[in-house]
Amino acid sequence: MISESIRYVGVNDKTIDLFESQYAVQNGMSYNSYLILDQKVALMDTVDVRGQQEWEANVTAALNGRTIDYIIVQHMEPDHSGSLKTVLEKYPDAIVVGNAKTFAYIGQFFDVDLTGRTLEVKEGDTLRLGSHTLTFLMAPMIHWPEVMVTYESTEKILFSADAFGKFGSLDCKEDWACEARRYYFNIVGKFGASVQTLLRKAAALEIENILPLHGPLLTDNLAYYIDLYDKWSSYTPENRGVFIAYASIHGNTGKAAERLADKIRALGEEKVTVSDLCREDMAECVEDAFRYDRMVLCSATYDGNAFVPMEDFLHHLQIKSYQNRTVGLMENGTWAPMAAKSMRGYLESMKNIRILDETVTIRSALKPSDEASLDALARALVEAQ
Ligand code: FEO
Repeated sequence: MISESIRYVGVNDKTIDLFESQYAVQNGMSYNSYLILDQKVALMDTVDVRGQQEWEANVTAALNGRTIDYIIVQHMEPDHSGSLKTVLEKYPDAIVVGNAKTFAYIGQFFDVDLTGRTLEVKEGDTLRLGSHTLTFLMAPMIHWPEVMVTYESTEKILFSADAFGKFGSLDCKEDWACEARRYYFNIVGKFGASVQTLLRKAAALEIENILPLHGPLLTDNLAYYIDLYDKWSSYTPENRGVFIAYASIHGNTGKAAERLADKIRALGEEKVTVSDLCREDMAECVEDAFRYDRMVLCSATYDGNAFVPMEDFLHHLQIKSYQNRTVGLMENGTWAPMAAKSMRGYLESMKNIRILDETVTIRSALKPSDEASLDALARALVEAQ
């Protein structure tokens, strides 16, 4: 229960293996949904069909014999609208509230007749439920075009849709920022400008609680979460540090990457993180690339390009709008080192990436003759602002 009038009716999904069929979620996911009980009753979103039965029971219990007057659809992605058809059938008098795109997408996902059951809203429209009033704010591309968020002015609550969400079920004990950051950069990262627009709208509101569609309800210290969202969405590095990502076929490039990390640490750099792109969670690596202000890409050469896991990583960074960072390069090749050329090609397509001149080329395996070039790259990284 959030308040006397606002009830949590969402569910935890602890059996899901990959969220959106791509993100490992060892601690599951929550699909949040809320009921506002006033003279009129409003349901805020539904849940993934995976949690439908439990969710229906939660809704029925919270309604305690009442019915639903409005179904507010903030986001049509199936993790939130997957149970929409069922609730439409179960509460045939409920009016569906959405914007023009919402209704287009409902028609695409479901074979339902909503004649006489829709209330189309646009930016700033309000809906009175009794003592509670909802104001709808459009939030396109956070993270689909139809997304809108909802401000309730009596209890000063922002229903924030995917924004401020995180991976993990509600009952797992884990740091908010770690999994919220991995969620943000992989799912919303491309749409920083849209998030900045939403933050400007939110700044004009008095907000005491943020109720997202995933992860915990944020009830205090809101400035902390909003500040992180401001940094993330403006592509500002959150921490000073060097993230070294390597793609090594037989281990030699990996050894060189670790050697470089030791040299950077020896120069006094406090935060140096090394990840093996062939084995570690890709979403975690994307998160770390965005988190720190400097990155080093170390790759073996493969079929005339960078090794496939490095190409995959750079494709991820490219489509997530990676920008505003300093990057160093290290390549390895036995007969024709080509990885640096390929990596450089990706980086040059990104915005405001400074590529350091001190590129290292290893021939097959690290040797004493390579130490000077590693030292030069380490120094350039530490001195980079
Ligand atoms: Fe949680 Fe974009 O769906």
